Amino acid sequence: MRILIVGGGGREHVLAWKLSKSKRVRKIYVAPGNPGIAQNASCVDILSSDIGGLLHFAEEKKIDFTVVGPELPLAMGIVDEFESAGLKIFGPNKNASRIEADKSFAREFMKKFGIPAPKFQIYETASEALRYTKRVNKFPVVVKASGLASGKGVFAVTSKREYEKTIDQILVQHKLGEAGNRIVVEEFLIGQEASVFVLTDGHSITYLPSAQDHKKLYDRNRGPNTGGMGAYAPYPTNKRVSNIIENVIIQPTILSMQDQGLDYKGVLYAGLILTSTGPKVLEFNCRFGDPEAQVILPLVDGDLLGAMVAVAERKLSSVSIKIKNQWSLCVVLASAGYPTDYRIGEEIEFKQKLSARTLLFHAGTKMEDSKLVTASGRVMNVVTVHDNLKVAKQRAYEEVKKIHFKGMYYRKDIGNTGMKKMKRKRRK
Ligand code: GLY
Repeated sequence: MRILIVGGGGREHVLAWKLSKSKRVRKIYVAPGNPGIAQNASCVDILSSDIGGLLHFAEEKKIDFTVVGPELPLAMGIVDEFESAGLKIFGPNKNASRIEADKSFAREFMKKFGIPAPKFQIYETASEALRYTKRVNKFPVVVKASGLASGKGVFAVTSKREYEKTIDQILVQHKLGEAGNRIVVEEFLIGQEASVFVLTDGHSITYLPSAQDHKKLYDRNRGPNTGGMGAYAPYPTNKRVSNIIENVIIQPTILSMQDQGLDYKGVLYAGLILTSTGPKVLEFNCRFGDPEAQVILPLVDGDLLGAMVAVAERKLSSVSIKIKNQWSLCVVLASAGYPTDYRIGEEIEFKQKLSARTLLFHAGTKMEDSKLVTASGRVMNVVTVHDNLKVAKQRAYEEVKKIHFKGMYYRKDIGNTGMKKMKRKRRK
């Protein structure tokens, strides 16, 4: 098969690495890719938002199967365009992608079908939104732009003053553009966060390992939100919680989407918070998480490509997928100043050769004058797999020390929550 992967970050690198292992694959193209991806595939200089360019390329190269990494092309309707042209593609269509791309739609959907979620209000104007301070006036509260805002549209607001400022920036100054034409104001919930991933063809559901992302910039979950500073998988949940996730969240969501005429196929990513009153949905995403994909896909033992094709062909019930009984852990190496004003163009050096068992997935890197340099906020992902989470963590941090670029920043506590949970489980 000739495969096209759309995107150019760590998620797309692990997808290219994983799919390149399939015997059915003859050639992989990644658009736009990155220098790390170029080791597993041919990179093509087409942006993931250039749907026309991607379609033209796929037709010209006789691509058999396209896998879409990021949410933007899905929300723009790449699946609709490719399928209309008779091309096979992995991901939900434009209408179904609204579960991520339109957060007010997603909240109304969850409410209508009784999917556990925080209480919320939707506002379109600043004067409406300011009524919240008169009617509810409870802080902290979460303010979300309803549209896609490249991970910059969620604010945990701790006071009335901060709330008014946030409303002004989104609904008056339009700092998030169209993404902020409508906002969702949500109850602030407390608990551990977990990312749950399923493949679905709209009817059958196949569970992939769940993961825990580390969204805050600093250790012990402090500081500003980021795209994710590291992850480990699987996230250890008990039977009772897993049952609720399957029977009260995932299955009803997929069934209700069908009920609403939403043709959801692809991967569904449920961002959950495990509260004292049970798991609740913080958000649904219509794609793999990043950096979660970097820890989930190395744990897939079976034929991932076969399962993805089966999703696109609506035959998921005919395949099964094996998952390794191991742990994987990813440390994200970021540029100084990330997630706001970060420096790029710093040379990336390897002080020592990485161990052959370590996986290195590039995110924001590029070649400049034959040198590998930083090109974005999140630069690289160091991933290790082991039977023991503690060993996976030790090995990952040993490997991180072999890499250097000026201002390189990373969290030192990836996986600690998982280790604590496992310790408690053993004591019981
Ligand atoms: N890791 C968070 C996300 O992919 O949205």
